[in-house]
Amino acid sequence: MKPPKIAKDKVPQHVALVMDGNGRWAKKRGLPRTKGHEKGESALFDVVEGAIQIGVKELSAFAFSTENWRRSPDEVKFLMGFNRDVIRRRRDEMHRMGVRVRWVGRPQKLWKSVIEELEIAEEMTAKNKVLTLNMCVNYGGRAEIADAAQKLAQDIQRKKLKPEQINEKVFAKYLDAPQMRDVDLFLRSSGEQRTSNFLLWQSAYAEMVFMDVLWPDVTRQTLWKAIEIYADRDRRFGKA
Ligand code: FPP
Repeated sequence: MKPPKIAKDKVPQHVALVMDGNGRWAKKRGLPRTKGHEKGESALFDVVEGAIQIGVKELSAFAFSTENWRRSPDEVKFLMGFNRDVIRRRRDEMHRMGVRVRWVGRPQKLWKSVIEELEIAEEMTAKNKVLTLNMCVNYGGRAEIADAAQKLAQDIQRKKLKPEQINEKVFAKYLDAPQMRDVDLFLRSSGEQRTSNFLLWQSAYAEMVFMDVLWPDVTRQTLWKAIEIYADRDRRFGKA
């Protein structure tokens, strides 16, 4: 399968993915919600391949949010174990494809085994350059900004920084992944039109594209369609 022809400067460099609709996909089939998450795995990795084909440089996948702890204990347990297994199972393949895997999120409450697998994947793929895949696990946009403010305040208290030195560039250095590019295309599946606290700071000028397909049914073609919509938009970044 070939991606559509799109001028290089119209291809988004960084795509954020809100993988929504797994539960509804399962419900429609009379299956437990967890079956929807399982089906969602192949959707994500098809999108990773499609992203490489079309020239996207960075993908951020919302795998578990700081708010997802409010789900039933059974689903939380499933999602933790599932994240751990997916990372373990997929990292060699990601490495072969030249994908750099990065974990973005808070360590608090997160299962140690999940952190361990993420760190192994980060180390193994650290030098890869084809595409960066940010696995956002135990991630929340407000949590990230609040944590950054706390670290910044500590640096001020230790006299490493003066309050008048704070600006957007300095603040951004305190975020969970300071090297992350700004999001160009914010893609959410399932027809819901919300950011749900994903990459708030980084998405300030992102183009929002909402696709009416449940995440387990998403393929690389869904990404390519969203990129075509994106390429037709007029991005002005506040200019007239
Ligand atoms: C949203 O569906 C999905 C999540 C809570 C994130 C988990 C995503 C996956 C498991 C997909 C693949 C991820 C990995 C790590 C391979 P939902 O449960 O909110 O669906 P609903 O809105 O229909 O209830």
